[in-house]
Formats: sequence, C-alpha cells, structure tokens
Amino acid sequence: MEIRSTTDEDLDVFVNTMHAAFGRFPETPTENGGVWWSALEMDRNLLAVAADGRPVGTAGTYSFELTLPGEILVPAAGVTAVGVLPTHRRQGVLTAMMRHQFTELRARGEFLSVLLCTEALIYRRFGYGPATYTRRLTVPRNQVAYAAPRARGTVDNPATGSVELLRRADCGEILEEVYDRYRRAQPGALSRPHRWWAAGAGQPPIAPAPRYVAVHRDADGVPDGYASYSLGEQDTLTVDETITTNDAAYLELARFLLGHDLVTQIVFKHFPPDHPLIWQLADFRAGQVGPDTDWLWVRLLDVPRALSARGWFTDGELVLEVDDPFLGERARYLLTVEDGKADCVPTDREPHLSMDVSDLGSIYLGGTTPSTLVRAGHIRAHDPAAPALADVLFRAERPPHCLHWF
Ligand SMILES: CC(C)(COP(=O)(O)OP(=O)(O)OC[C@H]1O[C@@H](n2cnc3c(N)ncnc32)[C@H](O)[C@@H]1OP(=O)(O)O)[C@@H](O)C(=O)NCCC(=O)NCCS
Repeated sequence: MEIRSTTDEDLDVFVNTMHAAFGRFPETPTENGGVWWSALEMDRNLLAVAADGRPVGTAGTYSFELTLPGEILVPAAGVTAVGVLPTHRRQGVLTAMMRHQFTELRARGEFLSVLLCTEALIYRRFGYGPATYTRRLTVPRNQVAYAAPRARGTVDNPATGSVELLRRADCGEILEEVYDRYRRAQPGALSRPHRWWAAGAGQPPIAPAPRYVAVHRDADGVPDGYASYSLGEQDTLTVDETITTNDAAYLELARFLLGHDLVTQIVFKHFPPDHPLIWQLADFRAGQVGPDTDWLWVRLLDVPRALSARGWFTDGELVLEVDDPFLGERARYLLTVEDGKADCVPTDREPHLSMDVSDLGSIYLGGTTPSTLVRAGHIRAHDPAAPALADVLFRAERPPHCLHWF
C-alpha cells in the first residue's frame, strides 16, 4: 500500500472513495465534491492506494486558525474526510495515513491538529483528546420570562441596539464578518476561511440553506451578532448558531428568538458552556440543557511550542512528563508561567504530573480540568498539590467553545 498526496485532479476519486467509506452519501458527487466538501484543499489531502492501484482510504486537512486562551491565533490543521473502504478495514490503513499526516504537519512547522470524531474510540490511540464541548438548550415558549437583574444599578434589559430580520441569501457578508470578529476572541473557536463562505461549504449558515437570520446591530448600526434559524416540525424553532461579539447582543437576539409567536419550543444548538442566558430566565428550570457532546479534539505535535504559544492567567511552575506512544516519544518539560507567558523547556527534574499526550490535548485549551483526569486515573500526580495548581494554571479566560463543523 502507498500513501500519496492528492492534487485537484484527484477530487472525484477522493470524494468517491470517502463516500464509499462512510456509506452514507450518493455514489457520484455533484460538482466540486458537493457542497459539503467544496472547501477541500486538494493539495493537503492523502489517498491510500492498494498494491493493485485501487484507492482504499482518504484523509484530508483544512488550514484553520485556532484561538488559544489569551486571544492568541495559531495555525491548526483540521483533519477531515477520514475513511477507509469497508473491504480494507483493520489492516492498518488509517494508522499509516495518520503517521504520514503527522510527519507532513511537522515538516510544515505546524504544532497542533484538531478534528471532530464520528466515534469517540478511534482517535485517542493517535494522541487526540477531547478539548471542547457543546450542548443544546431547549426552552418551552410558554416558560419564557426574565429575571430582574439582582445586581444593584443594573438596568433590566438595557436595549443597546436593534434586531433586523434578513434572509440567509441576503446577508452572507455580514455573517462572515461577524463570525470572524467573534472567533478571534473566543478560545477554542476556529476560523472559517473565506473559501468556505464563497463556496457555501459545510453546513448552514455557511451553506446557504433556506434560513432566516436575525442580525443584531449596536447603537451605531454596526452588526455585532446574528442568529440563523428555521421553524420545523411541532412548531420547534431551531437556531443553528448564535454568534455575537458581546453578551448584550446575545441577550437581545435570545429575547427575539424566545419571543417568536406560533412556536412551542426554541432549541439553541451549540449553547456555550457557562453561558449566562439560563440565569437570566426567571424560572431556573425553564432552560433544559443537553445532550452534552465533545466537539473539538486536539493533538499536540510539539509540546514546548504549543504550551508557550497559549496565553496564561496565573503564574506558576510545573514539571510535566508527557508520553506519546504513537510517535514513540516521551519527555519531561519544565513549564514556567510568568506575566501571562509560558516558557517550556526539557528538564531532568522529577515530574509533578505524568500524562499521555492525548490528555495534555484535553486540558490544553482549558476546557477539561486536569484534576478531573487525575481523579479518573488518567493523569498521575506525583505531588498532592499539583492537580489544584494545574487546574488554576490551565484555565482559560472563559470555557473554550467551538461550533464550526468540518
Ligand atoms: C475509522 C476507520 C477510518 C478506521 O480505519 P482502519 O484502516 O480500519 O483503521 P486501522 O486498521 O488503522 O486501525 C487502527 C486501530 O484502531 C482501531 N479502530 C479503528 N476503527 C475503530 C473504531 N471505529 N472503533 C474502535 N476502534 C477502532 C483498530 O481496531 C486498530 O486497533 P489496534 O491497533 O489495537 O489493532 C474506518 O473504520 C472507517 O472508514 N470508518 C467509517 C468512516 C469513519 O467513521 N471515519 C472517521 C471519521 S471521523
């Protein structure tokens, strides 16, 4: 078997092989691989080819930017379109493609990759760990009432702007611009490169399916938020995503959506962890949260670079021992955080914490608490004070959240 890079000419064979692997797509892709795949970067994809010349496996990469804690933007390889034909499974094809991909990413100087899993048992062996989480919020329309703010001097719903209703087909540029401002300040968020919007790739609201879009504008008329939604069965209003650059815009959009007539319930997909909206409802049980699901999985390919790249909010020092069985690497690092920046260098000192690289991926963005993984038996604490220090150290300014589908 050979693993080779693809070119634009391989688009049909790449998409057809992937479709056959997933078994859920039509045999023949429409033009440019179909709308789901129209942002594929054919110079960054791999094809596994059997000895008889037939393609049997695919793995792709998108060039994203990931927002790290501290509003730091770094390149992130978004692994996608991973599939192996049912006839060639469990023979090491995926393993070979992953190895090839990591070698290429390192050669390009990239220090992390991210992906979304179809099944949670596939990727840990390759060093990925779940790092961001997302969930739905469902609110019955007849339970919508707001709590008066209890902080003295806070005005109940100070109107800071206006909401305008547009059709998706008429507001692509606004969505692209607002999303880009939002993602630069949200830890865990991925960029949506212009090619996605231009091609209408992926899922709504990038893919221009029939949708209404509520656009929020600030007091100066500048768009600072939007919610893309549709009305479906049983009069359920489903919100694809609510993207805003500030809390006031989120609340005003939520009030607009929750106030819709002829609706029995409102479902917010991708409700961020720790969001204040639930606290703003008078009935604390009015908002039903769930199901929770993992979203972005992170794989670190260069631990010192990754740790010194992100922003930090508390000073401290830890020795981390990191085991990377898939790449056959094991090392100890001294992590020293001072004034928001970290220095991370190899050391011979005794470790405070020992962990698998996949668990380091899980705690990297601040969405998984190190002490939880200690309690689960995955991270080993050699010093009883280390888990609490690691919890404080690895925390982000707010929980990381990603809702980009790829
Ligand atoms: C998932 C998939 C790509 C695996 O490809 P593969 O070539 O069979 O994988 P490998 O042979 O390299 O397997 C490597 C290891 O992972 C394990 N593994 C592979 N797929 C697994 C799965 N779905 N669940 C649990 N373990 C899995 C294998 O058992 C093997 O374990 P071992 O090293 O202990 O023997 C393939 O089954 C597939 O195409 N599935 C449908 C599409 C899909 O789900 N793609 C993933 C998109 S995120």
